Amino acid sequence: MEPELALPDLPGNTSIVGLQWGDEGKGKIVDLLTPQFDFAIRWNGGSNAGHSVKVGDKKYAFHLIPSGILHPQCTSVLANGVVIDPVQLLQEMDQLVSQGIAVENNLRISSQAHVVMPYHKLQDQLSEQRLGDNKIGTTARGIGPCYADKAGRSMAIRMADLLDETRLGEKLQRVTAEKNLLLKGVYGAAAFDWESMFEQYRGYGQLLQPYVCHTSALLHRAMDDNKRMLFEGANAVLLDLDHGTFPFVTSSNCGTGLSAGTGVPAQAVQTVLGVVKAYCSRVGSGPFPTEQDNAIGQRIRERGHEFGTTTGRPRRCGFLDLVALRYAARVCGVTGLCIMLLDVLSTFDTLRVCTSYKINGQTTTEFPADAYELEKAEPVYKELAGWHETLDDVRALADLPTNARNYLDTIAHYVNVPIRIVSVGPARHQTLICPAR
Ligand code: GDP
Ligand code: IMO
Ligand code: MG
Repeated sequence: MEPELALPDLPGNTSIVGLQWGDEGKGKIVDLLTPQFDFAIRWNGGSNAGHSVKVGDKKYAFHLIPSGILHPQCTSVLANGVVIDPVQLLQEMDQLVSQGIAVENNLRISSQAHVVMPYHKLQDQLSEQRLGDNKIGTTARGIGPCYADKAGRSMAIRMADLLDETRLGEKLQRVTAEKNLLLKGVYGAAAFDWESMFEQYRGYGQLLQPYVCHTSALLHRAMDDNKRMLFEGANAVLLDLDHGTFPFVTSSNCGTGLSAGTGVPAQAVQTVLGVVKAYCSRVGSGPFPTEQDNAIGQRIRERGHEFGTTTGRPRRCGFLDLVALRYAARVCGVTGLCIMLLDVLSTFDTLRVCTSYKINGQTTTEFPADAYELEKAEPVYKELAGWHETLDDVRALADLPTNARNYLDTIAHYVNVPIRIVSVGPARHQTLICPAR
């Protein structure tokens, strides 16, 4: 039996954000910290996210529901900024119930959250196929088309619409006619029949109705009652629609946008923990200056089991990019870092971290705003000594090999943010808590 972890004392409400291109281990951190919180809140993205949590010999994969659901004292919330595919959500709820996790009394869904419809998923797939070599490499979960309809307004369907049959029927009839023009006319796809979709989605509305509420009001009451909130970011800063490597990003704000995605003002969040892999990985297309498309990348992928939780795709792997990391930490005002998967880097004689880029002959430590500029960046590396010891059983910072501690110090020093948590394996107990400073 592993001893209880002495969790870090985090002031106020806490936001967890990924600082790279996703899959940094946010799910593990949320699961670890949730015992201190009354609410766990997803506020962006949709089922493009895949957060894996290992508890004992059980493994949970979350796409929509916050990883906090594993803790029954905590209410899990899908806030207004999330785009919800009811098929995926109901499947995930069933899966959790079959694994003995109760969802009935501790899940709340925003009536303002937008609904991912079948035509969004098809549009996502067909658009990617048509783009060919220029594709974004999306998860094909309908995320982009759903957020596009949200911004476009006239064709959007929200959770509240699913609960109102008259409104749903009227909207679906109108929206389907327009979607069919696009899907048939541009892509030559078969037309959607609004009536069968209406029957199906009316049914989903009935099933989800007990969970749907005005989640901003719920969270305002929670603030009045001094309840503690943990915000679970999905995707990551470098995939942020505004601040990421556009256009190779997702369609929501991922590092910024918590306030818009929840109705909770930004000043209500006192702690922002940035979750970072000890190296870099990326799924889908787009620039990745430190990518190792070679034996090194292959070795990291194998050691880190770097295959997507959502799509199973092999993740592109490479060295840690400190230029991108410092930028990401600044964008979301990170107050502490969680360095994940440090164990994966054991066995390397030397490791490299990127400390600047050379672009058009100029050296810079600034992350370019333009992905096409970033494409030209040649990484300038600092070489660090590696370590051969396995870290899986290390339980205290002091027991890490000296070179592993130097590696961590290099990160904290460059980013100028203290490290609060170091993770050396997927399990809860494979976690080292750093003293606050
Ligand atoms: P998320 O999307 O940010 O929640 O991350 P994912 O769950 O997609 O990917 C992280 C993967 O790494 C999951 O399979 C975790 O179980 C696993 N993981 C988390 N922390 C560690 C760690 O410190 N070491 C190792 N080896 N695996 C970890
Ligand atoms: P978590 O929360 C890794 C990537 C996709 C693709 C791009 C756009 O598990 O860290 P989308 O389907 O969102 O339109 O795809 O964004 N992407 C992720 N990559 N982890 C994620 O989430 C991701 N969410 C989106 O691979 O490159
Ligand atoms: Mg993931």
